[in-house]
Amino acid sequence: MPSEAPHAVDSSQQPPISRTTKILAVVNQKGGVGKTTTAINLGAALALEGLNILLIDCDPQANTTGGLGFRRQKDDEVQRLSIYDVMLGPTTLAEAMQPTTIPTLTLVPGSKNLIGANIELVSADRREYRLKDAIAQLHNRYDFILLDCPPALDLLTLNALVAASGLLVPLQAEYFALEGISELISTLDRVAQAFNPDLGLEGVLLTMYDDRTNLSQQVTANLAEFFGEKMFRTTIPRNIRVAEAPSHGLPVATYDPRSRGAEAYRDLALELMARNGITPHEEESERA
Ligand SMILES: Nc1ncnc2c1ncn2[C@@H]1O[C@H](COP(=O)(O)OP(=O)(O)OP(=O)(O)O)[C@@H](O)[C@H]1O
Ligand SMILES: [Mg+2]
Repeated sequence: MPSEAPHAVDSSQQPPISRTTKILAVVNQKGGVGKTTTAINLGAALALEGLNILLIDCDPQANTTGGLGFRRQKDDEVQRLSIYDVMLGPTTLAEAMQPTTIPTLTLVPGSKNLIGANIELVSADRREYRLKDAIAQLHNRYDFILLDCPPALDLLTLNALVAASGLLVPLQAEYFALEGISELISTLDRVAQAFNPDLGLEGVLLTMYDDRTNLSQQVTANLAEFFGEKMFRTTIPRNIRVAEAPSHGLPVATYDPRSRGAEAYRDLALELMARNGITPHEEESERA
């Protein structure tokens, strides 16, 4: 269990990198489909490949924050800075950053204050651009920024979609998987038209997958037909180690690196990197 870091991340320790940052919103308005699990474990797997990763917890449930070992704070405690303070106050992302057990994985925590953010943002200036504006101050120091979204198409998710270059949509291969997806896709189209022409669908990921059942094979075939190339080849199996890891405050890659879940998220990281033409940093330095 990582201890609470008393200090902010020293950003001067992290070398600037020249290539552009890819910002992915992990989004599905349906609850419990594996958004948070994917944000944590894909982020960790990419970081373990040597990439610089920033994970931003945009959900009032703050499960990404808790899953990385930052415990829930009591009301009478001094509150750690969170993405709430960045979106609604003078705080910068750099000031709210927390280190994790993986040196190249940095977290900007969420907090339950975000429940109020949806209401407070309504009357705020540039209310859809708060997150984008904050990220714009970062000067490209990250290979990927992953935004864990709440299970709603609310102003917090809208901020994530406006800031993002792509959507990563976790789905469970179940009969109702496509329910809600047309709403999500039309939201994507509307956000792209109104706020963010760069926004696209990066990929659709099957989570908690069990390929032994006829139903999941059938549903998978339908999804593959619907999404075509946008379906990741990698699927994430239902794996007990994945479910246990957050209670130890760790990504599954650190909690049990040899588990099927850890391997699957590593495969996903490599697939995402290959799609984006990125080679692991270690290999680059070995070649140099
Ligand atoms: N591959 C997996 N194997 C086993 N359990 C999993 C797996 N992926 C997710 N889970 C479990 O399923 C539950 C929901 O996952 P998660 O919290 O990631 O979903 P979510 O989409 O972020 O939910 P919410 O919409 O509430 O934010 C959690 O208890 C998590 O531990
Ligand atoms: Mg979640």
